[in-house]
Amino acid sequence: IVKLDRKCWTENEVHQTLTNRSPSSHKGTHGKGLVIGGSLPMTGAPVMTTRAVLRAGGGLTTLAIPDAIHSIVASQIVEAMFSPWKAVNGHFSGELGTDVSRFDAVAFGPGVGRENGGEKILSTLLDNVKAPLIVDADGLFYLVKLKEKLKQRSYPTIITPHTGEFARLTGHLPTEIENDRFELSRQFAIEYGVYIVLKGPYSIVTTPTGSQFVNTSGNAALAKGGTGDVLTGIILAFVMNHSNLQEAVSNAVFAHGKAADVLVEGNHSMRDVLATDVINALPSVFRTFH
Ligand code: APR
Ligand code: MG
Repeated sequence: IVKLDRKCWTENEVHQTLTNRSPSSHKGTHGKGLVIGGSLPMTGAPVMTTRAVLRAGGGLTTLAIPDAIHSIVASQIVEAMFSPWKAVNGHFSGELGTDVSRFDAVAFGPGVGRENGGEKILSTLLDNVKAPLIVDADGLFYLVKLKEKLKQRSYPTIITPHTGEFARLTGHLPTEIENDRFELSRQFAIEYGVYIVLKGPYSIVTTPTGSQFVNTSGNAALAKGGTGDVLTGIILAFVMNHSNLQEAVSNAVFAHGKAADVLVEGNHSMRDVLATDVINALPSVFRTFH
């Protein structure tokens, strides 16, 4: 008989675990983060992830994109640095354009699409990122073929699948995932030694040892393309600013949902909220956290 270790993550837990920004800190204290994403058809996803990192407190943020979309994304963010990597047909070629081992956290996936180059990039990241690596969106599509390498990885990995992405990763049907969310995510987290955010209403955060934390914020306003990309950015910023990864990830998931709650309690409806509105609502959420 397995002893189940599950609890709800509420505003109380956030208040108990969130760390303040030290008065004597500098940008290095808050982390050098790298977002890797985008392709010609999906220029918005990495922009949203990067803006979310900036809003959520990352110290120095770099966005790596296929060079074909450099000028498009650079025109939409002024606070980040850019690392244009070699592109083929508007997608990553597989060649990395910067030393990824020098970052405090790396996120891969938003907007990358499914061309061949992405798998080589992710394979290199699994070997060379010596800090937390967040894999999201079509990064999870490539991960299906790299599960053994994931298991071998000696630094933390955080994966953020929705039901469909987790079904593909585990080889189950989406309905099987829906009917057994806790147990299937617990098994995968333990087998591969990863943190999982299994997204949806009441997202579940699972640690590599199988402890589980159920998020209590959020609403159906988040059921719109782009909100997942925003969550990835908040997670990236939070893991660089907290020594406990479970707390950092759970707090990021809570803040993301709470931003949507604040929007629909204010001037918005669940219908109209945009992913960028969620980023812009983060300040009012963070102000209530201290
Ligand atoms: N209630 C609460 N939270 C919700 C709800 C809901 N009804 N619906 C969605 N969310 C939250 C999820 O928990 C998650 O944090 O919104 C976010 C949605 O994330 P994704 O599903 O990753 O969505 P996103 O990536 O923005 O949208 C397009 O869907 O099929 C994929 O590959 C496709 O990456 C693309 C993505
Ligand atoms: Mg997504």
